[in-house]
Amino acid sequence: MCGIVGYCGRLNAQDVVINGLEKLEYRGYDSAGISILENSSLRTKKKAGRLINLENALKDDPFKGNIGIGHTRWATHGVPNETNAHPHLNTNGTISVVHNGIIENYLDLKEFLISEGYTFKSETDTEVVAQLIDYYYEDDLFTAVTKAISKLKGAYALGIVSENEPDKLIAVRHASPLVLGVSDELGTFIASDIPSLLEYTRDVIYLDNGEIVVADKDSYTIYNENLEEVEKEISKITWSLEAATKDGFEHFMIKEIFEQPRAIEEAILNKMKDDEINLSTGTFTKEELNEINQIYIVACGTAYHAGQVGKFAFEQFAHIPVTTDIASEFRYNSPFIDDKTLLILVSQSGETADTLAALREGKKHGAKTISITNVVGSSIARETDKVLYCYAGPEISVASTKAYTTQLIALYFLALDFAKKLNKISDEEIKNIINEIKELPNKINSMLKDLDIYKNIAEEIKDSQSIFYLGRGLDFISAKEGALKLKETSYIHTESFPAGELKHGSIALIEDGTKVFTIATQSKLVEKTASNSQELTSRGAHVYSIGRVGDTLLEKSADKVIYVPNSLDVLMPVLTVVPEQLIAYFTSVAKGNDVDKPRNLAKSVTVE
Ligand code: M6R
Repeated sequence: MCGIVGYCGRLNAQDVVINGLEKLEYRGYDSAGISILENSSLRTKKKAGRLINLENALKDDPFKGNIGIGHTRWATHGVPNETNAHPHLNTNGTISVVHNGIIENYLDLKEFLISEGYTFKSETDTEVVAQLIDYYYEDDLFTAVTKAISKLKGAYALGIVSENEPDKLIAVRHASPLVLGVSDELGTFIASDIPSLLEYTRDVIYLDNGEIVVADKDSYTIYNENLEEVEKEISKITWSLEAATKDGFEHFMIKEIFEQPRAIEEAILNKMKDDEINLSTGTFTKEELNEINQIYIVACGTAYHAGQVGKFAFEQFAHIPVTTDIASEFRYNSPFIDDKTLLILVSQSGETADTLAALREGKKHGAKTISITNVVGSSIARETDKVLYCYAGPEISVASTKAYTTQLIALYFLALDFAKKLNKISDEEIKNIINEIKELPNKINSMLKDLDIYKNIAEEIKDSQSIFYLGRGLDFISAKEGALKLKETSYIHTESFPAGELKHGSIALIEDGTKVFTIATQSKLVEKTASNSQELTSRGAHVYSIGRVGDTLLEKSADKVIYVPNSLDVLMPVLTVVPEQLIAYFTSVAKGNDVDKPRNLAKSVTVE
């Protein structure tokens, strides 16, 4: 996830672009850059690190002009440095492009352009777009852009300027966010998100997929994907800037919960090519996998829970036994690690001190390593042999939501990749599983339509002293994640147990009115968990069950059932976590807690 801003009008473009980027820094902040047309010449400056580095660099040598584009980056292709920062230019520096999204077929296009004599400076997919526009440019930028985008696969929002046509700004939207801001007095603005526009205009046009905007200082024209001119409705923004930064949501946590369908789609897109699994440099070859005789998945907190779901996937798809361990334990207790061990580290931030130390410990004993992380160029990503990125975009809320679900997607794909290479699964089975994975975003969307049930539950549980989360098998892992989410946001003591373990001690804690969540989605275990729920209700507990649509049996043993859509057993954790996240969120709100920054916690735990 990156942020784009562009401007064409009467104001100083550097001021407008930098101002706009400041409002988008939440979307990405590992590097930033700007291109301005100054006296018909293209001037570009890029800096690694936060936007302030770019602002400082511009202080000594400001750009003067009324047309420009800028970008704040959250690295997806290539490490976050100045070379990989946007804007990207064609070879002779006459065309400049900023991009948000992923060009799926950029390697093929790059190969083609290299065969045509083009050379590349960066590792990014975006540079390919700049060079492709150059390839098609004869005497009309618009035509070159339309020809170039007809070759692109994937998701992209683009801002383009060129000194060949120094009065123009071109923007394209295809499956990545881009809005247009319009003002008769000031000119035309483009941005990934509305906050960047609000200082200048509240009149916006929401672009649809495939639409292209061509703007000069006095006017703009919008074309649809058939290159026909279209008239679009102008909407008036009435929100405050503060609300707009969160896309109209009250907190980042709920915004990020709602971002999950899109994040999962992006995660899937990045792990496939031509309908086949393609993890590129995120996995080992068949020969290398044949050398491995044990797998450890090591992580902390929510990432550890993702790893525990991953264990089920590896065991089911690839028939490989997997050990999971908490990073802070593993680093002091890893006696069996050797050069035949594969260590998979899961970490949203890629900077968690314990996970990093576990990685270093494993490497000391010769283990091969793969990381699953959301942050390109993070320490863990840099120090592992292979990296598989989550593509969740920046996660701001301390309580992890979209990073978890995209970690699950990465683990499913890695397990399928291993299973295929080790001949443990048929192509047909892989196809079916991937089809089911592709259905998950829509299923999550359907769960986000009506939030009243979660708000009501939050009101019912908010004054509890103690809450329990129970499940069996994979449902127990989901119960652990539900409990962690609820305790960190609500500050209510919440414990998780395997449901079958209850009567071996913990049932003594149940008294009249104790609130218990039971997760019952695993087909072979639903009846067993339902009978545990019955044991609880008969002792006075108030039971909420999370189960699959159609499993009405649960209604007999629970006070309330939250139904989630059906999927394969192994994929159910992606769906069951959504009600858990929403319950945690609304309970925190109901208690008046600091939702995005719960007490005593940090987003990235960089100390032991
Ligand atoms: O950045 P990491 O994924 O390595 O972080 C691991 C945990 O600290 C993290 O998942 C933590 O448990 C979250 N606050 C949970 O919501």
